[in-house]
Amino acid sequence: MNKKNAVRSLMFLASLSVTGFALAHGDMTPQAVNTDGLEPLGKEWRDENPYRPPYANNKLAVEIGATAYNQNCARCHGLEAKSGGIAPDLRELEAGAEGDEWFKERVINGAVRDGAVYMPKMADFISQEGLWAIRSYLESVHVE
Ligand code: HEC
Repeated sequence: MNKKNAVRSLMFLASLSVTGFALAHGDMTPQAVNTDGLEPLGKEWRDENPYRPPYANNKLAVEIGATAYNQNCARCHGLEAKSGGIAPDLRELEAGAEGDEWFKERVINGAVRDGAVYMPKMADFISQEGLWAIRSYLESVHVE
């Protein structure tokens, strides 16, 4: 490969990764989540995931959460929660009550750094039920 071609392919690679980033951060509006079959929770936020076992419908919560995750979170946090590196790998979020606290804090407040929105306030678009379903899904794929 001569020098000119080498430079060209480098530029091509660079443009690819820029596009990847733009796509990953595309500002699609988050989708409301259908949580029929899960216990309604009302307006007041719980401190802990109410759908964690021994909750009888945990399996349904995980299923709903998997779909809702792929529609609303995957474009930044990666398909199946395996982060491609742009946003944290959510499989590594701590299990149990401590992870719940951090999860709740992030989905309610989003993430803003130097005035730039890195993560929208997901709780403005998705119900508490939908978000705890996503948390249930994330715990089902948890890794240390
Ligand atoms: C537009 C991109 C984007 C979307 C969409 C998004 N996030 Fe995030 N999220 C981020 C970024 C970037 C961070 C890291 C923020 C930081 O480090 O300040 C983050 C951080 C988090 C954290 C904290 C993780 C940690 O290890 O500290 C949680 C929890 C989280 N997101 C959950 C979600 C959930 C659940 C959804 C979907 C309902 C979602 N995010 C959708 C970009 C996004």
